[in-house]
Amino acid sequence: MRVCVVGSGGREHALAHVLGRSSDVVVTPGNPGIPGSTPAPATEIDADLYVIGPEVPLVGGLADELRAAGRLVFGPGADGALLEGSKAWMKALLLAAEVPTAGHGAFTEPDAALRFLSTMGDLFVIKTDGLAAGKGVLVTQDRAEAEDAVRAYLSGEAFGDAGRRVVIEEGLTGPELSVLAVCDGRQAMPLAPAQDFKRIGEADVGPNTGGMGAYSPVPVAGVEAVGEVMDRAVLPTLAELRRRGIDYRGVLYAGLMLTPRGMRVLEYNVRFGDPEAQVVLPRLRSDLADLLACAAAGSLEETPEYGDDAAVTVVCASEGYPGSPRTGDLIEGIEAASAEEGVTVFCAGVALAPGDGDGVESPGQNSPDLVTAGGRVLNVTGQGSDLATARARAYAGITHIDWPGRYVRFDIAAEAVGSVSMG
Ligand code: AMP
Ligand code: GLY
Repeated sequence: MRVCVVGSGGREHALAHVLGRSSDVVVTPGNPGIPGSTPAPATEIDADLYVIGPEVPLVGGLADELRAAGRLVFGPGADGALLEGSKAWMKALLLAAEVPTAGHGAFTEPDAALRFLSTMGDLFVIKTDGLAAGKGVLVTQDRAEAEDAVRAYLSGEAFGDAGRRVVIEEGLTGPELSVLAVCDGRQAMPLAPAQDFKRIGEADVGPNTGGMGAYSPVPVAGVEAVGEVMDRAVLPTLAELRRRGIDYRGVLYAGLMLTPRGMRVLEYNVRFGDPEAQVVLPRLRSDLADLLACAAAGSLEETPEYGDDAAVTVVCASEGYPGSPRTGDLIEGIEAASAEEGVTVFCAGVALAPGDGDGVESPGQNSPDLVTAGGRVLNVTGQGSDLATARARAYAGITHIDWPGRYVRFDIAAEAVGSVSMG
């Protein structure tokens, strides 16, 4: 099978890597660290299956455009992608489908928003309605900060048009969990659960990012927890989408909190998580290309199979992320890290070093010199027989990676490893 992956980050590198076990893969636009990258747009690439990685082209209707041209596409149309494109729309759909989620209000006017805020408890959650690269969520106990955020979001100052409508939510507490389900319009099947680390700082402090690391499996989420997420969240959501005439074929990614009062959906994404894909996909035993092609064709049959191994991924970010990242620094150590047992390096915000070609050809075995070109630069994934081994391998890989200002969280999966080794 020839598969076209759309996107340019670490998630797309992981997709291409795992699809490449059985298929020819081309990635558009990709990046100079992803073999098979090409600048040709998806609409000009001939493939048997198109897998759209990021939310922006999904919300923009790329899946619809490709389907209209008779292509087999894994990824929802613009209608289904609204689950991620508008948090207010998503929350209304969850209410209609009776999916447990945080109480909320949606506002475009500061006075009404501030009045609602004044009725909230002592944990304030402010979200942009529209897309903000994972950064549009503020969770704070400081009322003045929450009020300032509401004003800055609604005025467009903080996130442009994405913030001109805000969703204010009841603050919840508890461990978080990501469950990614593959959907074919009617049925859904879960992939292995993962946990993501959203905050920039160790011990979960500082601003939200797109994700600084992830691990899978998740000790707090056994088969029963995943079953509950499917029964109470994913399947009712898919049924409600269908009731509205939306044929949802793609990943439905439920971001959940396991609160003392039960599971709650915090958000839906309409794509694989980044960096969750970098741990969930390499662990898959089934053939990914077959799985996604069946879902795209509306005929999911086989449950995705996993072994009992584990994976941990750690993001190497640029200084300044998630604000304005410093870029253009030469990255060292990718080959040495990849040579460590059980380690795979996925490239995200990278560019070719000046004088090293135009970045459009597959680098193949002799990797070109790469420089930093974004906030999240690389993911180093370690795999092993258990989380402790996978984690040790990921960090062994990291010791080789360097550039000025390289930033890494060193506590990814630490707590989970503790809980595993204590039985
Ligand atoms: P989201 O993009 O909606 O998943 O939010 C990003 C992060 O903000 C989540 O992973 C949580 O850590 C946190 N968060 C979101 N909604 C809530 C909430 N209602 N209560 C507490 N924390 C939340
Ligand atoms: N890692 C969170 C996301 O992909 O949205």
